[in-house]
Amino acid sequence: MTDAESFALRRATIDDLDQVVALERVIFENDAWPESLWRSELESEHTFYLVVTRADAPAELLGYAGLLSLPGATDGDVQTIGLAEAARGYGLGRELIRLLHLEAQRRGVRDMFLDVRVDNPVAQSLYRSFGYEQIGVRKGYYQPDNVDALVMKAAI
Ligand SMILES: CC(C)(COP(=O)(O)OP(=O)(O)OC[C@H]1O[C@@H](n2cnc3c(N)ncnc32)[C@H](O)[C@@H]1OP(=O)(O)O)[C@@H](O)C(=O)NCCC(=O)NCCS
Repeated sequence: MTDAESFALRRATIDDLDQVVALERVIFENDAWPESLWRSELESEHTFYLVVTRADAPAELLGYAGLLSLPGATDGDVQTIGLAEAARGYGLGRELIRLLHLEAQRRGVRDMFLDVRVDNPVAQSLYRSFGYEQIGVRKGYYQPDNVDALVMKAAI
């Protein structure tokens, strides 16, 4: 049986780069970040990335999520969150955001920001449940699809 207990979360390392990039292409297709961006995200001192695996197959990545917070800043960003289809619907998205917020609080962050496609109601619903509210729109932010981004903010 698959349930939330079937999965494990841990801190990402640069050794996860290849699998993260491959998963990113499957999940985000046209919006996928290039390997160079992922490398700098995973190597940065100012980010905090978590990855999801199956508990009984820890070498295979099924998801990831990341925080960016600069030293001394009271604002932070959810950089991204993505789960393979097989790992959706088990509360992992909620757990990942909860843990990013905990780390952000530990770093002194008060306000969190993120961008989300206007045509992604599932992610918006997750974010709203954490108190995120729309504060703006970035026209045509997602290219080449030319889809707008909602900019959302939450006090944590
Ligand atoms: C968005 C995503 C991370 C959610 O992760 P998840 O583990 O499936 O979500 P959870 O099981 O933790 O559910 C959390 C909340 O998300 C929303 N949600 C999840 N699945 C949903 C669905 N099928 N329909 C509507 N809302 C849904 C609900 O608000 C849910 O809260 P609830 O269970 O109290 O109703 C996941 O769907 C995903 O990776 N999607 C593709 C990538 C993506 O869109 N990333 C966001 C980019 S901004």
